[in-house]
Amino acid sequence: MSKQVFETNTIGGIEVRNRIFRSATFEGLAVDGGKVSPAIMDMYRSLSEGGVGLIITGYMGFSATDNLSPRTVSIGSDDAIGPLTELAQTVHAGGSRIVAQITHLGSQLTYAPTQEVFAPSDVTEPVNGIRPKPFRTEQIRGLVKEFGEAALRLKKSGFDGVQIHGAHGYLLSKFLSPVYNKRTDEYGGSPDKNVRIILEIIESIRNTCGRDFPVWMKLNCSDFGREENSYEFDDFVVTAKEVANGGVDAIEVSGGTMTGRFPSSRTKSHEAYHLDYARRIALEVDIPLILVGGFRSIDTLEQALTEKNIEAVSMCRPLIREPDLVKRWTEGDRSEAACVACNGCFNPSGTRCFFELEGEEREAQKEVMKMIKLMRGNDS
Ligand SMILES: Cc1cc2nc3c(=O)[nH]c(=O)nc-3n(C[C@H](O)[C@H](O)[C@H](O)COP(=O)(O)O)c2cc1C
Repeated sequence: MSKQVFETNTIGGIEVRNRIFRSATFEGLAVDGGKVSPAIMDMYRSLSEGGVGLIITGYMGFSATDNLSPRTVSIGSDDAIGPLTELAQTVHAGGSRIVAQITHLGSQLTYAPTQEVFAPSDVTEPVNGIRPKPFRTEQIRGLVKEFGEAALRLKKSGFDGVQIHGAHGYLLSKFLSPVYNKRTDEYGGSPDKNVRIILEIIESIRNTCGRDFPVWMKLNCSDFGREENSYEFDDFVVTAKEVANGGVDAIEVSGGTMTGRFPSSRTKSHEAYHLDYARRIALEVDIPLILVGGFRSIDTLEQALTEKNIEAVSMCRPLIREPDLVKRWTEGDRSEAACVACNGCFNPSGTRCFFELEGEEREAQKEVMKMIKLMRGNDS
């Protein structure tokens, strides 16, 4: 039976009103050292009222070994539960579901760290030139436990599930990469050892939250790296099979890092740019796939949903510009999203559409955009 965009369905263990999701979007708007702010609450309310089936939050941090910016939502202690409960209730009131993306940034920091930086191995981070310290085995065990505790806080806050961030060059994506994981212990050295930490994290979340609490993953189909031994599609096949066997309920298919040949947020000349990889992984693993990257029109989105196992499509930048895009499409205006994929929404003062800015703010953001382009040196 063909999949309909606008009908109630259960995807990855969560009942949703349609198949258009908001992909994780870092807000940069937390206050008081990591608390949900009124600005975050407003952002999520308008997305939910704007019709998306499900919202994956911007990455949230929690680990004592991480270097979170004070603008990042922190779920490292039970203090987070109150404000997060309010956030989940707000989203549910608008009719959407909410999944929290949980992450450890590792060495991929775009600001000065406040404490030691840890990564799988001491390979220099291309984004900032930092040479991180390799995680000690007992620290990895601690981190696995912290993931489970963070997920439990989210479950207690009424979230519908969690998504482990395994993409885009952050810590777990570095564990998966032969370029960055040079370990010779049980956590590195071959594709099946590189994925081990993720399998332990899944198990840890199952232990704290129970088997029924949905656990999703965001993974790169390829890092599109410049090095010969970069993480590529063949590695992704191993990862996807392992995490599917490990019991994750859905995989969001993404790709790229900040400094590879392609970033995860490409320019407008690319459309549905991970579709072919999703098609190919669907032949290898039988698990619901959510596809992200370059969706701008409802026609392309509907086309993608005809593919085997692609159960939902997710978008980020189009929903920064038009939080009510899905409602607009539902109401019959099927014209393309207004987003031009300029990446001006990567704003150090908090995520906002470039086209909302005026005067000095707009000029300052133009400089940031030039710097992003220079740093990436890729098709961004
Ligand atoms: C401002 C901004 C913030 C983002 N934050 C996150 C994030 O927290 N976690 C994540 O996995 N991806 C993040 N992304 C990547 C998006 O989720 C998405 O994978 C990418 O932008 C491609 O989708 P799009 O073409 O619909 O924008 C972010 C992208 C942008 C533009």
